[in-house]
Amino acid sequence: MSFFSDRLVAWQRSSGRHGLPWQNTRDPYRVWLSEIMLQQTQVKTVLGYYARFLEVFPSVDALAHASVDEVMPLWSGLGYYSRARNLHRAAQMVVAQFNGQFPSDPDLLVQLPGVGRSTAHAIAAFCFGVQRSIFDANVQRVMARYLGFEEDLASASAIKTLWAKAEALVPKQDGVNAMPAYTQGLMDLGATVCTSKRAHCGACPVAGDCQARLKQLTHVLPRKTRK
Ligand code: ADE
Repeated sequence: MSFFSDRLVAWQRSSGRHGLPWQNTRDPYRVWLSEIMLQQTQVKTVLGYYARFLEVFPSVDALAHASVDEVMPLWSGLGYYSRARNLHRAAQMVVAQFNGQFPSDPDLLVQLPGVGRSTAHAIAAFCFGVQRSIFDANVQRVMARYLGFEEDLASASAIKTLWAKAEALVPKQDGVNAMPAYTQGLMDLGATVCTSKRAHCGACPVAGDCQARLKQLTHVLPRKTRK
């Protein structure tokens, strides 16, 4: 039992974002595609691109066997075109090295071009219930505030320390059931409640023991100097 993960999972189920197309599936191909598109692009822009992409390439096999010239037009307008080239190369790698099946192990997922540590954890958690934590900028902010972590997040060692603390907060039991809601809950809390502009503590499921709130530090955390 953990206050943080229990509260976050319950809150995601009652008050988080629902009905996004990549939430209706545990198909790693669909989840992976959504995470890559969402890396630098807003949800409302991604929706149309995501649907069109899946119509043309409904499976990792279909994508792997296409030429990159067939892939690029589906990315046209989304920007950060290296994402599309990496996507195509990663699909070929899944087919050639993993028999067309995405692995569940984040240490293998992270070998795919374009898949960083946090994205590997997102795919593993959403699709396979693997008990590892995402750690994008939103989650860094949520964790720095909740834990009252005052170190400068411009430092790689501070990031490493805080990420380890985030890993310690994931649900300990029933990962297959809890991890998708937990992971989505972290994203939703960062996007809608614990925002960079302001922490909306009245709407937060874990405000009760949030160290930044208790110490009145929500407006100064996370600390991050420019490098
Ligand atoms: N940003 C990155 N991943 C996301 C997801 N699964 N849902 C909403 N926004 C996201």
